[in-house]
Amino acid sequence: MATRTVTFEFKRQASPEAAAVWEKFELEWRPGMNVVSAMMEIARNPVTADGRPTTPIAYDSNCLEEICGSCAMRINGKARMACSALVDNLEQPIKVEPLTKFPLVRDLQVDRSVLFENLMRVKAWVPVDGTYDLGSGPRVYPQEQEANYPLSNCISCCCCMEVCPQFNDVTGFVGAATIAQVKLFNNHPTGKVYKEERLRALAGDGGIQECGFAQNCVEVCPKQIPLTNAISDVGRDVVAQKIKDWLKS
Ligand code: SF4
Ligand code: SF4
Ligand code: FES
Repeated sequence: MATRTVTFEFKRQASPEAAAVWEKFELEWRPGMNVVSAMMEIARNPVTADGRPTTPIAYDSNCLEEICGSCAMRINGKARMACSALVDNLEQPIKVEPLTKFPLVRDLQVDRSVLFENLMRVKAWVPVDGTYDLGSGPRVYPQEQEANYPLSNCISCCCCMEVCPQFNDVTGFVGAATIAQVKLFNNHPTGKVYKEERLRALAGDGGIQECGFAQNCVEVCPKQIPLTNAISDVGRDVVAQKIKDWLKS
């Protein structure tokens, strides 16, 4: 019986300064095979389809179950998680490239620290640090939990920023993930202590007004986070905060 094979083309780049090259690999098909398991197999025997020895492909991954957000890359032109990209559902040759909006480190590894800088800019946390007993937390009603839970599913993959036409060096736009986290922490009974600061952080350049509402973000999010609803809600709050600040000045 003929062996079933799967064909991949990976974009390789040894360093940010090196020229990018495409390498083709033919692997034996296995049940449940995904893009990360294929790269693991290549690492065990790094030889291209034309028999040339090469190096293992560099990429980030951790959980292998679409939870950690580290394996985001472009697969057949779509930003998505490599560990949940089953080869059976992909057209061949399967073309794999790094995300394009983030500084390249090597091969499929990119530096996504801009998301974490943006989350710091908006204080995306609940302030509970202290050297004393803070007591039990405030009550959160089931309806609030239901509204907040989807927002808390963000895995920081940055796919929403990759596909956003407004996320670029010119606008400095923070992107949909950060805005959704503002909604989450502003909804939290303890987290809302920073509500005004968060809204002010989104009021200036690179803030919420940069969003053109193209909705690419909500379509690509692997966790189906209601990003455009979050952008509308936070946008309304940012305007209300601006008016409040103006009346006080
Ligand atoms: S709605 Fe469009 S412009 Fe706004 S964050 Fe989403 S992709 Fe970007
Ligand atoms: S909002 Fe969705 S697409 Fe954006 S970083 Fe979070 S999980 Fe990824
Ligand atoms: S390895 Fe964690 S999301 Fe893919």
